[in-house]
Amino acid sequence: MSRIAVLTSGGDASGMNAAIRAVVRKALYENFEVVGIERGYAGLIHEEFKKLGSRQVGSIVTSGGTILKTARFPEFKDISVQKRAYEILQAHQIDHLVVIGGDGSMRGAHSLAQLGASTITIPSTIDNDMLGTDYTLGFDTCVNTIVGAVAKIRDSSSAHERVAVVEVMGNRSGHIALQAGLASGAEAVLVPEHPMPLADLSDRLVRNHKAGKTYSIVITAEGAYHAQDIATYIKEHTSLETAVTVLGYVQRGGVPTSTDAVMAAQMGSFAIDQLQAGISNALVGMRDGRMVVTAYEDCQNFKHTLDEAQYQLIDILSR
Ligand code: ADP
Ligand code: F6P
Repeated sequence: MSRIAVLTSGGDASGMNAAIRAVVRKALYENFEVVGIERGYAGLIHEEFKKLGSRQVGSIVTSGGTILKTARFPEFKDISVQKRAYEILQAHQIDHLVVIGGDGSMRGAHSLAQLGASTITIPSTIDNDMLGTDYTLGFDTCVNTIVGAVAKIRDSSSAHERVAVVEVMGNRSGHIALQAGLASGAEAVLVPEHPMPLADLSDRLVRNHKAGKTYSIVITAEGAYHAQDIATYIKEHTSLETAVTVLGYVQRGGVPTSTDAVMAAQMGSFAIDQLQAGISNALVGMRDGRMVVTAYEDCQNFKHTLDEAQYQLIDILSR
């Protein structure tokens, strides 16, 4: 009987648990044995393995976080640590490793594949910034959480006639900020991909104020500006009042939306289908509305850049 191991790695994202459930149950259905590895690559090195049956993944489909725990384990970039991990996989007779995580986690899976392991990655990060897929599990839940929070912030911002500056996650990418900004009617969105001078932001807010707006919503990705720095600038350069909210961990957990839960079920099942068909060392994902599998080396050919038209629309619709 072939043996599959599954781990979650990097930042947790809603839908990881639904993906674990799908991987485990589909693999069992296909007569694999399944082992869970706790705490990502750290747990792999520390041999934190546990056998997973169908009942161990019961009641998790609607919960955020990850029952397998997750970890940042920078030591895994070291080739000697990767070699040790490969030996451990062999010692535990693991035929295939399913990695559920983001870009960094996929790089870890790729390095194991280069040493001879069979791995497959299911994209899962709230950032939605992976090459090779248009969608990563957790993004939709995260954006919906932000939209709900901004709706509340809007009430107070409107009541007090202030500029609400809301900081969201996204260290290197602005997908979260842009999507949340468009969905919640923000006056401006600041993203790492489009460095916007704060003077331009102030001009836009003052222009809108002169046109009759009494309050504004600004959403900034943490990788563009910190909310407090924006608020300080606006205070020093305009007569507008500001209020800062840093959303933090509110954005990562919570019940996955149906989009994330359904996508997790499909991606988890699809990943096992690939292993059954002899395909590995690849990322499963979604492109142009279709489930696809892409060899790790080829993922860079499918960039998932920020939607320019959506970015322009923020300003047009804010006037
Ligand atoms: P994400 O997977 O969400 O992008 P990280 O970038 O933190 O999150 O990556 C998760 C983990 O993947 C890291 O803590 C590390 O263990 C592993 N990893 C990241 N980059 C590499 C790399 N270049 N080579 C090998 N492993 C990596
Ligand atoms: O999950 C991705 C991400 O949310 C990034 O946008 C952010 O920079 C990072 O994780 C923060 O993670 P933590 O502080 O929990 O390690």
